[in-house]
Amino acid sequence: MSTVVQTKVAVPGATEVYPHRGCVTRRCRNERHGHRSGVVWLTGLSGAGKSTIASAVEAELFEAGWLITVLDGDTLRAGLNSDLDFSAAAREENLRRAGEVALLLAEAGYVVLATFISPHQAGREAVRRVVGDDFHLVHVRARLEDCIARDPKGLYRRALAGAIPNFTGIGQAYEEPPDADLILDTSGADVETCRHTLAGFIRERFAL
Ligand code: ADX
Repeated sequence: MSTVVQTKVAVPGATEVYPHRGCVTRRCRNERHGHRSGVVWLTGLSGAGKSTIASAVEAELFEAGWLITVLDGDTLRAGLNSDLDFSAAAREENLRRAGEVALLLAEAGYVVLATFISPHQAGREAVRRVVGDDFHLVHVRARLEDCIARDPKGLYRRALAGAIPNFTGIGQAYEEPPDADLILDTSGADVETCRHTLAGFIRERFAL
């Protein structure tokens, strides 16, 4: 345990703000749970398999005693981010908030599986900067034609018919990440293989 220090933050728009730091540190929490905490950020097209793989890995590591949770784009957009649309600026704000929430959970000891399309490199880099250490970018990669064929929510069908003009991959571009720490190719590998690969990656990266 360390002593409580209160430092004023230098953030524009957040004057006279002193974030409270308790004496139960992230390190204490990590030692209690037997693993480091941090953020595994899954980026990729809708239908690439981000949520499916994240849920499978969450279940496996939870059963093994890990403090782990999924932070999902659709879920956040149903609540905290329900005021945001899919313009470039709103997607940026969506990610900014998601990154801040992910960081809070990481500070609380969680391994956070964050599943967001996050189509822009600049937005992903901003989240990496906010989270700092223990941020790992995973590209869940699938061919666009495979995502269109899967179309689990029927959104590609509607986007191709012109009903969703800014749908990622159809009306708006997805920028492939050049800096992924891990690539899961779901056009070439099944969910079980991806689950195994990602769980192994997390066990290694978040070892104390
Ligand atoms: S992000 O681009 O801002 O990172 P996010 O991951 O939060 O997106 O949300 C994506 C989800 O929103 C998709 O899984 C889909 O269900 C829904 N959605 C609705 N409209 C769009 C759109 N225009 N582009 C992409 N996804 C959309």
